[in-house]
Amino acid sequence: MKSMLKLVLTSVALMVASVAQAGGGSYPIPLEKAKISVLDQASLQRGADLYAQYCMGCHSMKYLRVNRAARDLGWSPEEGVAHFQHIRNGQGKPTDMIETTLNPETAKQAFGSVPPDLSLQARLRGTDWLYTFLRSYERAEDGTISNKLFPGVAMPHILEGLQNSLPPAEFDAAVGDLVNFMDYAAEPAKPQRLMMGWWVLGFLALLIMLTYLLKKEFWRDVK
Ligand code: HEC
Repeated sequence: MKSMLKLVLTSVALMVASVAQAGGGSYPIPLEKAKISVLDQASLQRGADLYAQYCMGCHSMKYLRVNRAARDLGWSPEEGVAHFQHIRNGQGKPTDMIETTLNPETAKQAFGSVPPDLSLQARLRGTDWLYTFLRSYERAEDGTISNKLFPGVAMPHILEGLQNSLPPAEFDAAVGDLVNFMDYAAEPAKPQRLMMGWWVLGFLALLIMLTYLLKKEFWRDVK
């Protein structure tokens, strides 16, 4: 019994230690929390537009189809094509994947590395990382660009124009929308999954009420 207890305590201690290490952050700067929700469809729509405008030129999202995204974001398939119109230089179809027209060879020559596919990036890095990354670019006095979270990143400061044209809070909100869309793209069923959770909880609450009433009915005459 005693050794069992010791085993349990040791494994709990190890678990706590590993969680603390994982959360302790080996990042150059602390991550900031992205306050986003994939249930906010308006935010997803704004994020998709920002994505199409600022990211699709270089990155693909090859696991997300235009008509699927359109359906989940509340657009018709044709509207979806219009929102992601860069696809195939304006010749897009609703069944296209959200791909970039940038040639990998050209990208390699220009940036030294091929921009990675962003379909699953929110899963890989986490939304807080993306939110912090996109807000951590800096331009030094001599004009050189750096990123505090990802020093030496080959990606230019794509959102610089947007950042300079918006008040800081609005820029943060825009980046939040963009990260929200990337979070959705990494798991298109996430909105349904979350909604399903609420339905299940509602159903269970109803069931508890009914069974409680039933129990009262059964025991009414038992003294
Ligand atoms: C001009 C081309 C270009 C555009 C436009 C662009 N990126 Fe990038 N991006 C790159 C390149 C190149 C890399 C690879 C960086 C490296 O390996 O150092 C990269 C890397 C990234 C990474 C890091 C991947 C990782 O974990 O290593 C993320 C995240 C990212 N881009 C997001 C975005 C988002 C979001 C947008 C739109 C706001 C965007 N990018 C627009 C070229 C671009």
